[in-house]
Amino acid sequence: MNTPLVRPAQPHDADAIFSLLMQFAMSYQPDRATFDVHFPQLLQSGHATLFVAILNEQVAGYILGFELLTLYANGPIMELQELMVDPQHRSKGFGRALVEAAIEQAKQRHCVEVVVPTRRARDYYVKLGFVETASYFKRKLS
Ligand SMILES: CC(C)(COP(=O)(O)OP(=O)(O)OC[C@H]1O[C@@H](n2cnc3c(N)ncnc32)[C@H](O)[C@@H]1OP(=O)(O)O)[C@@H](O)C(=O)NCCC(=O)NCCS
Repeated sequence: MNTPLVRPAQPHDADAIFSLLMQFAMSYQPDRATFDVHFPQLLQSGHATLFVAILNEQVAGYILGFELLTLYANGPIMELQELMVDPQHRSKGFGRALVEAAIEQAKQRHCVEVVVPTRRARDYYVKLGFVETASYFKRKLS
């Protein structure tokens, strides 16, 4: 199989990324009006990595990660926050290609490590070479 094309997200990817976002089974319901405010901010941010995987000129998946400057790691790390591949196009390597593209970006930005909080996709990230290292806690504010 050819390596899937991965490129930085662009403004015209908004509809496709929002559709993918709706696929997440999660405690927050995505709101389109809020998305339309935040999506351009992410595209402009120097600390966000937002990539899409392309199949036949259509968006088949996306990944969102953030570069965080840390003290403990003696430098920046990248945290992967969202990874979603269209259910119709799974098991074709898009997820792996998106993760590898984010890792490459992290390397270019001199990140020390790439981390990902996840529950459902634990085994997936282990498969991609990640090592389980911590539990993740949250306290909701709204
Ligand atoms: C996890 C996900 C991104 C993988 O995308 P993908 O493009 O299908 O992944 P790849 O093609 O790189 O790898 C597919 C392989 O991973 C396996 N896999 C997929 N999800 C998995 C999971 N949660 N746990 C373990 N293995 C998983 C598949 O069975 C497949 O195995 P195969 O190659 O032996 O058939 C996709 O299933 C998805 O979008 N899931 C819903 C959202 C999600 O869980 N995101 C990650 C947490 S933020």
